[in-house]
Amino acid sequence: MKRDVNRRYELVCVRCKAVYPGDEPRNRCDCGGTLDVVHDLEMLKGRIDKRVLDERMGSLMPWDVSGVWRFRELVAPLSCDKIFTRPEGNTGLYISGRLSLFTGIDNLRLKQEGENPTGSFKDRGMTVGITMARFFGMKTVACASTGNTAASMAAYAAMAGMRAVVFVPAGKIALGKLAQALAYGARTIQIEADFDSAMHLVEQVCRKRNIYLLNSLNPFRIEGQKAIGFEILQQMRWNVPDWIVVPGGNLGNNSALSKGFMELKELGLIDKLPKIAVVQAEGANPLYTAFREKRDLVPVQNPDTVATAIRIGNPVSWRKSLRGIEATGGVVEQLTDDEILQAKIEVDASGIGAEPASCASVGGARKLVKKGTIRPGSNVVCVLTGNLLKDPDTVIAVHKGSLGKNIQGRNQPVKVEPRLDAVLQELDN
Ligand code: F0G
Repeated sequence: MKRDVNRRYELVCVRCKAVYPGDEPRNRCDCGGTLDVVHDLEMLKGRIDKRVLDERMGSLMPWDVSGVWRFRELVAPLSCDKIFTRPEGNTGLYISGRLSLFTGIDNLRLKQEGENPTGSFKDRGMTVGITMARFFGMKTVACASTGNTAASMAAYAAMAGMRAVVFVPAGKIALGKLAQALAYGARTIQIEADFDSAMHLVEQVCRKRNIYLLNSLNPFRIEGQKAIGFEILQQMRWNVPDWIVVPGGNLGNNSALSKGFMELKELGLIDKLPKIAVVQAEGANPLYTAFREKRDLVPVQNPDTVATAIRIGNPVSWRKSLRGIEATGGVVEQLTDDEILQAKIEVDASGIGAEPASCASVGGARKLVKKGTIRPGSNVVCVLTGNLLKDPDTVIAVHKGSLGKNIQGRNQPVKVEPRLDAVLQELDN
């Protein structure tokens, strides 16, 4: 395929600041550091404004309909006919009396990223990742995944006519996600180890076999994920929330959010940054510890949590993540599995629903209010990263009582004999 990227962005190492051209498929610096896509913001000044971005919402062109490519100047400057989109984004921003009560935040909003084409926020990064893979002329894409990235990549690769290989930790990914990867036809390799080992392996495999790696280590995936923040702003009529709360696993998503907001501020489209709060599970909390102790990340060995999506001990994007949290004045919080499950019961019972890891944002917001970090009067957006149906096993286990200890609000199914009087008696109880 013709390489027609204008040199309007470069890849810059987060660690040593080495610069690489943006038109080569590169995921790491020679020093091993992760890479940022750095846009020429000076050139974009005055060429991108809120009115143009809002007008695109009324267009029927796929690159305008997409809640990612609508912001294309800040994503990847490709010509529109190169873009591969489902389209993704345009997810709901909800209010919920029940969740306001639970968290103690009146102005709480829930950004339901489970409404994306494959049921998670990963589709925002994947549309960019797959577009770039095709642009670079790659035939095969791969990722290590706790499930959602695998599902998303498998679907986008299938639609784009590419081969997909996914590496997942054997027995540790939720049923819905495994089902998606298989159904969409990805070569699914179950590694008898955790996500971190799978991640380490997939990088080596990609190098040896000229396969394009589509984990959030890939700098272009981060560019797509930024659009969650852009879309929140559009939905809030460009009023900047005080806080955005997200779960943290491999730490791509929160890195993306803060990067995007910093770019908008530099362009003059917003005048303040929302504080980014990242919530980890207690059993997989390397960022929480690094943030609290103000030091570099030390991997957690044998990470464990009921929220399998964020069961990660050695997150790839930790430098980018800490940089963004610091720049926005944000924080890192952690939750026990029971706190995550309690938040999940509430999120699900609110009618919005989400998978366990997603609900860490709501549980985290509640904890941060209790600690006095988030003021109850603040404008807060909690991102729900994945759909409730991704992990039906956990829902059933929680409600049937086999998972979680002091959980309130279980909804146990009952068995009733097939007689009217028995059914009525049950209902009247
Ligand atoms: N929530 C869900 C539902 C996820 O699937 C993930 C990550 C996260 C939160 C954390 O986001 O990694 O950007 O900090 N899932 C990855 C995967 C690791 O393979 O699907 P992050």
